[in-house]
Amino acid sequence: MPNLLAGKVGIISGALNEKSIAWKVAQKAHAEGARFVLTNAPLAMRMGEINALAEECNAPIIAADATSVEDLEKLFSGAQEQLGGKIDFVLHSIGMSPNIRKGKHYGELNYDWFQKTLDISALSLHKMLHVAEKQDALNEWGSVVALSYIAAQRAFLDYTDMSQAKAVLESIARSYGQRLGKQKKVRVNTVSQSPTKTTAGAGISGFDAFYDYADKLSPLGNAPAEACADYCISLFSDLTRYVTMQNLMHDGGFSTTGISEEMVEVLTKASS
Ligand code: NAI
Repeated sequence: MPNLLAGKVGIISGALNEKSIAWKVAQKAHAEGARFVLTNAPLAMRMGEINALAEECNAPIIAADATSVEDLEKLFSGAQEQLGGKIDFVLHSIGMSPNIRKGKHYGELNYDWFQKTLDISALSLHKMLHVAEKQDALNEWGSVVALSYIAAQRAFLDYTDMSQAKAVLESIARSYGQRLGKQKKVRVNTVSQSPTKTTAGAGISGFDAFYDYADKLSPLGNAPAEACADYCISLFSDLTRYVTMQNLMHDGGFSTTGISEEMVEVLTKASS
């Protein structure tokens, strides 16, 4: 169904390079008729890759560090100005853990960095929605989607403090979903995505192994970034207006599978 987002305007964060999930969301939102502002941290902008996407999608760029309320205020007011009205959809596609970057295992986390992880990867959603509410920046029946990972519910030690960040992120989505739903009929959801080969994904130690493990366990295989983008588009569209406060699994069936033939085969080979 083409033009699912015709007439809608939005904010898309987190497109760092072609591999980013947000990059695919932007391309698909553009193809479905949306207009939007692209945003990323000033540091990420320096890479410059976002300019190609902005050109392709005819989208203005507004730099904002998602941990800074001041930057987010400028982002939301600037987006409304550039797009000529209130916002219909927001993609939160932001995650970073200094502990993961520096290779710290779960038993030796640096607590200042832990707080940074939480601030960047979880509180940033709260700050965004706080600013959106204060500016009354969202249209009725708007939609907010943030990307999460199943380490919020299950222990994946190599995901270290990002596990806690995702748990907080999902909880914020529920609380703001209740608040904004009542106020403005705005829905807020998280999409819990399969492991995906992006810059953030590849930074996690043992990523290739748990990518393969998830792929072998999921009856549909790991969900690719493009399919995640499709799901986000459906959540921004009017076809999902009563879906809110949910953590939606987009994982090829991983989260509800016990064991698969492929895993039995691997383990049988290993033990023989
Ligand atoms: P990515 O590395 O392309 O995107 C992460 C983005 O966060 C980057 O664009 C980065 O510049 C941005 N960012 C970091 N600090 C920021 C700050 N202070 N202010 C504003 N932006 C900031 O990687 P990917 O995988 O596309 O990540 C997007 C989201 O998807 C993240 O929330 C990630 O945790 C989530 N996710 C990723 C999975 C994976 O396996 N790659 C699996 C499940 C969820």
